Amino acid sequence: MPASASQNRRVVSGMRPTGRLHLGNYHGALANWVELQYQYECFFFVADWHALTTAYENTEDLKSNATEVIIDWLAAGLNPSACTFFAQSRVPEHAELHLVLSMVTPVSWLERVPTYKDQIEQLKDKDLSTYGFLGYPLLQGADILMYRPAYVPVGEDQVAHVEITREIARRFNNIFGREPDFESRVASAIKRLGSRNAAQYNELRRKFQERGDGEALGRARTLIESGKSLTVADRERLLGYLEGGGRVVLPEPSVLLTRTPKVPGLDGRKMSKSYGNTIAMREEPASVEKKLKAMQTDPARVRRTDPGDPEKCPVWDLHKIYSDDATRGWAQSGCRSAGIGCLDCKKPVIESVLKQLQGFRERAREFEENPELVRGIVADGCERAREAARATMAEVREAIGLEYR
Ligand code: TRP
Ligand code: SF4
Repeated sequence: MPASASQNRRVVSGMRPTGRLHLGNYHGALANWVELQYQYECFFFVADWHALTTAYENTEDLKSNATEVIIDWLAAGLNPSACTFFAQSRVPEHAELHLVLSMVTPVSWLERVPTYKDQIEQLKDKDLSTYGFLGYPLLQGADILMYRPAYVPVGEDQVAHVEITREIARRFNNIFGREPDFESRVASAIKRLGSRNAAQYNELRRKFQERGDGEALGRARTLIESGKSLTVADRERLLGYLEGGGRVVLPEPSVLLTRTPKVPGLDGRKMSKSYGNTIAMREEPASVEKKLKAMQTDPARVRRTDPGDPEKCPVWDLHKIYSDDATRGWAQSGCRSAGIGCLDCKKPVIESVLKQLQGFRERAREFEENPELVRGIVADGCERAREAARATMAEVREAIGLEYR
């Protein structure tokens, strides 16, 4: 459970504006977001500044890419009245928090993030020797901490970024959560709980600190969250005091690891824009059908009469996503006995993919035809996000001692 976030139902995640999204993006992240929006208070954003960190010279597509991504979110079923979606660069508080955090982040922490060296190795044609690229995970940390979320739903490749975000939050709280008069402020915050709750808080704190009683910790957090007459700063103090530190201005979020199916690309490798092996969420049916008919199968199955092995076939991975048990059973035995050909086997997959894509295309249509509608949705989301961001920045400035501005 994240520090001081036991009651917190907030979720934050972002996506870089890569242009039209494909089925790998859908099954890898979006489908999960669509479920989360009804379970949590979700903030989802297009990380347009992050796009600049690896391609600052290439900005002509940025605007249309961001719009296409948003339309794909709507096509997938993200509902702007159930969650908040916005563009990072329209909430400039992210830049302010990034700057503040940069003051307390050791350069060596950033150099040690595994994606830093990996990307420099892999993207040799890009200039990654910039301050912005080194700071990528820190900007991501600011994106996250801004909303003080309990969870950050991401794939395996982003776990290290959430981890460094937690370390930075801890460091920030250690440095700026210490107030010279902390103890006396805590004492008056405890009074404000009312005598019954105050006694309970002290008792639960003692149980946690003496015996590491996790249940007591959880109950104490709930008690703090429900303390109606507490200011935000008092709450942060009580949370910090409970766990033996200073104020918790920026709670540490947890990763919500997305369980995702393997989505094969047309060539059998992972579906990825950089491999050019994708099917777009809103792709034309004729093109989808053509691509799937030509999709890689078990390479050992050369002739129709050769039996195949679904475990060696990317089409089978699509059956795992798109087919029911009966169809899968049919594909398995038909493949292994050479009872069916690969085109037969692909037929139900093609049908299911087309049906899903038709749903996406239908949902997207009104937004494609009406760019104003999309602009309005994003503008609303930006406003809501800014409200949350302003509240955090007020706390942050106060903790640092910059509240006079
Ligand atoms: N780095 C993430 C990616 O490439 C995108 C991202 C930016 C993000 N800021 C974030 C994800 C904050 C989660 C939370 O996928
Ligand atoms: Fe793949 Fe199906 Fe062909 Fe078997 S029959 S190799 S599972 S496409």
